[in-house]
Amino acid sequence: MTAADRFEDSFRLSVAPMMDWTDRHCRAFHRVLAPHARLYTEMVHAQAVIHGDRQRLLGFDASEHPVALQLGGADPAHLAQAALIAQDWGYDEINLNVGCPSDRVQAGRFGACLMKEPALVAECIAAMRDAVTVPVTVKCRLGVDEQEDYALFAAFIDTVAATGCTDFIVHARKAWLQGLSPKENREIPPLRYEWAHRLKRERPQLRIAINGGIATLEAIHAQLAHGDGVMLGRAAYHDPYLLHRADVSLYGGAERERAELLRAWRPYVETQLAQGVALKHLTRHVLGLFHGRPGGRAFRQVLSEGAHRAGADWALVEQALAVTANARRAA
Ligand SMILES: Cc1cc2nc3c(=O)[nH]c(=O)nc-3n(C[C@H](O)[C@H](O)[C@H](O)COP(=O)(O)O)c2cc1C
Repeated sequence: MTAADRFEDSFRLSVAPMMDWTDRHCRAFHRVLAPHARLYTEMVHAQAVIHGDRQRLLGFDASEHPVALQLGGADPAHLAQAALIAQDWGYDEINLNVGCPSDRVQAGRFGACLMKEPALVAECIAAMRDAVTVPVTVKCRLGVDEQEDYALFAAFIDTVAATGCTDFIVHARKAWLQGLSPKENREIPPLRYEWAHRLKRERPQLRIAINGGIATLEAIHAQLAHGDGVMLGRAAYHDPYLLHRADVSLYGGAERERAELLRAWRPYVETQLAQGVALKHLTRHVLGLFHGRPGGRAFRQVLSEGAHRAGADWALVEQALAVTANARRAA
């Protein structure tokens, strides 16, 4: 399979962009668990890409491919410039955030409030597409505030698709811009998968990935009967072994044990430790690996108590694995 085919195929399973969570260390860990999935960065504002510390904001490990940068912003020229910079850094895709409802983001008139401005989104996507050769994609909601109409949502997609953009990730609920926190906006507005399914049915030429509340293998397969891909957010983060099982289930291969997977991440960890990265920044992403398993709590406890100590290194991870194995034997 060529790199291009691998990239195409990775649309079927992806890990959502999540601020403070899907940083490069998290993505490197997820890559070990899910060799075929597409990984998304946290949202980075276009202006930060242009003016900020690029190594910190854009740097990633080669193992992370296929990896997409998610941009925030609403200025076509800035987004185009940021997209080009990201392409030069080696990102496989540039994604525009049309789903974040935080106050900070609304103050900047980007994120979810762009659902009300399809023409501006189209202008942004057109500018980005002109600037780069890698795919430019959109992650959006079903609508915002009082928008309750499938036809409005479909019209938003059509306006953006008229630029030539074919790939959409639909977080299948709307967002309330006033009165709900971002966290509540991931829970309170009801999921309406059927809107995403209908979109795909009516516009088979578009590729639609479905996001929101997908947390089991059964749910993943059920969604793939209607869409081209699934994007996992919180479930992948809190229960990373699910991500592994999803990758195996969709792409084949043999399931590996949790401890084996973690040890496969060790070379990455050692490289980062040697560069002065503290263990806690790495291991915070693995705390859920034994989620729901005997010993899962012990694993989490050993790592969260020990990883912040000066000089903490891989030995602590082995200690956590040993305590976990003992707890399992005792169970
Ligand atoms: C901690 C956290 C941070 C998030 N940050 C982003 C972000 O930067 N960009 C974005 O498009 N969505 C963001 N989201 C939303 C997720 O990408 C996803 O759409 C949402 O969590 C629903 O999927 P899930 O039910 O599988 O978690 C974030 C979600 C969480 C939990």
